[in-house]
Amino acid sequence: MPNPSRIHKSILVIICWLGGISSYLLFFQYFSQSCSSQMIQVQGASFEPPSLNQISTVPNPEKPVLLVWDWPENDNYKFDPNECKIRHNIDSCHLTDDRNLYNHSEAVLIYHKAIKKDLSNLPKDPRPPFQKWIWFHLESPTNTRQKPGLENLFNLTLTYRRDSDISVRYELTFSKTPKENYIIPKKDKLVCWFVSNTNPGTGAWNRMKYFEEFKKHISVSVFGNMAGARLKDEDYYPTMASCKFYLSFENSIHKDYITEKFNGPLAVGTVPIALGPPRENYEQFAPGDSFIHINDFPDPAALAQYLLQLDKDDEAYRRYFDWRKHISASPHFSVWNEEFILPICKACDYVAKHKVYKEVHDLFKWYFS
Ligand SMILES: *[C@@H]1O[C@H](CO)[C@@H](O)[C@H](O)[C@H]1NC(C)=O
Ligand SMILES: *[C@@H]1O[C@H](CO)[C@@H](O)[C@H](O)[C@H]1NC(C)=O
Repeated sequence: MPNPSRIHKSILVIICWLGGISSYLLFFQYFSQSCSSQMIQVQGASFEPPSLNQISTVPNPEKPVLLVWDWPENDNYKFDPNECKIRHNIDSCHLTDDRNLYNHSEAVLIYHKAIKKDLSNLPKDPRPPFQKWIWFHLESPTNTRQKPGLENLFNLTLTYRRDSDISVRYELTFSKTPKENYIIPKKDKLVCWFVSNTNPGTGAWNRMKYFEEFKKHISVSVFGNMAGARLKDEDYYPTMASCKFYLSFENSIHKDYITEKFNGPLAVGTVPIALGPPRENYEQFAPGDSFIHINDFPDPAALAQYLLQLDKDDEAYRRYFDWRKHISASPHFSVWNEEFILPICKACDYVAKHKVYKEVHDLFKWYFS
């Protein structure tokens, strides 16, 4: 039995299409208006409504419009704006990638890596006077290319740094009532490492050097491209949980550059071994007894020695879980193309809550300082 509403939609699609090629006819203008709103409801339809050159209207004028100028990396990372509400309870802006809304957008999110060297793919002037541009970048300075001409264009920054206007972090949450008897997940591996990037050009030589020495003294289960194949998305958390320790080795060392490599083990019940900024910086994000820092030991051999000792001492190992009585970590994205959902939703929330005038000068001087 064909579904009658499907037929209705199919007819509408045909009318819309005809409307597109003959949009100069006033008659079709009427249909094209109802096209755009109707089309959105056609689940999974790959058909794009033809460009109608009409002025797009803002669906809810109460909410500020956040325009995603280019999807980070590529369109595979695109997501349904409703995800902000579903995952992060953020519903305060109108999130769109419709460039026709440019003149109505309170903020435009611009992904650093997508900007062409000659800046030719940035929005064209005139910029509406109320509009803020957000510089969106998640890489560390080691992996950042400076692009001249960006120094005085932006109003807000969205990065991993705590001194950004909008800071993307996986935050731990505190609860008033203690949770007793945390059950440590079953362990069948001692130390694990998921690693794909071994390219020294990205700064990864540092952790490789440490690892080469470390593995002489303790056995490490390695997963990821370095071990031959990437872990499947659905195996990421269960595999991590089955290890007593996890090497949270950042690819480059910068203040605040503490990524999902550190959040993952905290979220699943594994003890992270941090290689990154100094311990004090980690302690601004997580309790000091929730992780082990490589700088706590004079060399990789001493660290390995300590872990082997903890492996035989359940009581001492358990102390790395005491903090969980009051604090909890939540899993970050585990499906690769969900990486940008949280940052973009956070930008949306920020734009709705902060309406003050702002300019960012010397963008790179700040970022590389
Ligand atoms: C925005 O407004 C300017 C004129 O103020 C116009 O030239 C431009 O085409 C408009 N852009 C869009 C995407 O509607
Ligand atoms: C945004 O920054 C630009 C460049 O510094 C500035 O010209 C513009 O007035 C600022 N706008 C707002 C709304 O903060």
